[in-house]
Amino acid sequence: MRNSRRPAWSAAFVAAAVAAGGVVSANAGAEEDRLAELGGKLFSDTRLSEPAGVACASCHDPKHAFLGVNGSRVPAVARGATGALGVRKPPSAMYASFTPPFGFITKLNETTHKREKVPAGGQFRDGRAATLEEQAAGPLLNPAEMNNPSKAAVVAKVLAGPYGDLARATLGITIDNPEAAFARITQAIAAFERADAFHPFSSKFDDVMRGKARFTPLEAEGFGLFKNPRKGNCLACHAGGGPNPSSEPGGSQSHDPKDWLFTDFTYDTLGAPRNAAIPANANPDNYDLGLCRREGLAALAPKGFNIESVCGAFKVPSLRNVALAAPYFHNGSVATLREAVAFYATRDTNPERWYPKGADGPAKKFDDLPEKHRSNANTVEVPYDRRPGQKPRLDDHEIDAITAFLQTLTDTPAR
Ligand code: HEC
Ligand code: HEC
Repeated sequence: MRNSRRPAWSAAFVAAAVAAGGVVSANAGAEEDRLAELGGKLFSDTRLSEPAGVACASCHDPKHAFLGVNGSRVPAVARGATGALGVRKPPSAMYASFTPPFGFITKLNETTHKREKVPAGGQFRDGRAATLEEQAAGPLLNPAEMNNPSKAAVVAKVLAGPYGDLARATLGITIDNPEAAFARITQAIAAFERADAFHPFSSKFDDVMRGKARFTPLEAEGFGLFKNPRKGNCLACHAGGGPNPSSEPGGSQSHDPKDWLFTDFTYDTLGAPRNAAIPANANPDNYDLGLCRREGLAALAPKGFNIESVCGAFKVPSLRNVALAAPYFHNGSVATLREAVAFYATRDTNPERWYPKGADGPAKKFDDLPEKHRSNANTVEVPYDRRPGQKPRLDDHEIDAITAFLQTLTDTPAR
């Protein structure tokens, strides 16, 4: 069970994250530019896998909002260099530079009115990498992804690349110190991921914020429902609106696109349906428990924090470019954007639409979690505070409206 949250707190946290993560300081500019230039070459170099053939760009395609699955036969999970399929849907690498490092932050619980520490931030869906640098090391060495046998093997490939001289000159790396050289390589990739191409703020939504475009009536209605705490309440987790927003209908919000990242970087247990197409799920005892199995969580958690309470929790993703991100949720279990919105509306009023039937009748809700962890699913916050027989928070037309609004979050590719 999780607790309701305060949009005001969320937005302040987001503003701090923007200040920390997104903007490169002017004096670091030249070095950062050289690093980013090299990082761009590394990002799309298919020589950097074992066997060759898979680059970061294979799963994070620059032409597709840095999303992709490397031609996997299962659209929910990516194919790695050896042909092995992964277990989680690759998120976009866009706007990832705004994610603060993983940690426990203080927030007010609206139900108990007590301040409490909750997990937030970090790269990956379970936040296990603190920074983009640390994140980039993951896929290079992960057997299910780029499968390099060692850091030295990656360094050797970089030095032998067509950009080998640039790498030597920019990074000052040699094969003699593979540990340091590998760290510099991840710095270059991270610098690339901090460049403008990863956060152009070039969507229709951004132009509306800048006063350069107008929502259609349906999109405007969808934006209202998205913010309305008694309807979609999406803003409670997919936060935005600046330091002092009001999520009330007609409330005031920032018009600066950078104040709208559509996440507060916290974690929640949505209870997405099990996806039988993921090969690892052929084993009925296989469950992806997300945050509670994150390495090192116990050491970081405050005293008294119940680790098992975050089994099934995944990071709230940004919704920027979400229209391009199908299939949806960490396990890619929902095929279309409209269905993802409909899931929020009807998960609790019509569970049979999303979950298989139990042996004796009613739908087996939260079937992608072991029974003992199903009570972790959020059933208190709007819009999923309903019960069978009650009216969904959103009707079909309102689901259409929110879907139309979410489609305005797609960036226009740089010309
Ligand atoms: C074979 C597919 C594949 C390749 C290759 C790959 N990734 Fe990923 N990427 C993923 C998956 C899957 C996740 C989510 C994994 C998880 O949450 O445990 C991910 C997560 C990320 C994230 C975290 C985003 C967020 O919001 O948390 C970033 C950033 C990223 N990858 C960048 C890279 C970089 C840089 C490279 C190359 C060094 C790379 N990826 C190579 C599949 C891939
Ligand atoms: C209580 C927090 C919370 C609320 C409220 C919330 N979301 Fe989410 N949302 C999440 C989390 C956490 C995930 C990731 C779940 C996962 O991967 O299993 C997510 C994922 C999504 C995704 C899938 C994104 C992707 O790339 O796969 C969409 C679409 C989405 N939310 C839209 C909405 C909309 C629309 C609303 C309002 C009707 C909403 N959310 C309300 C927490 C929330």
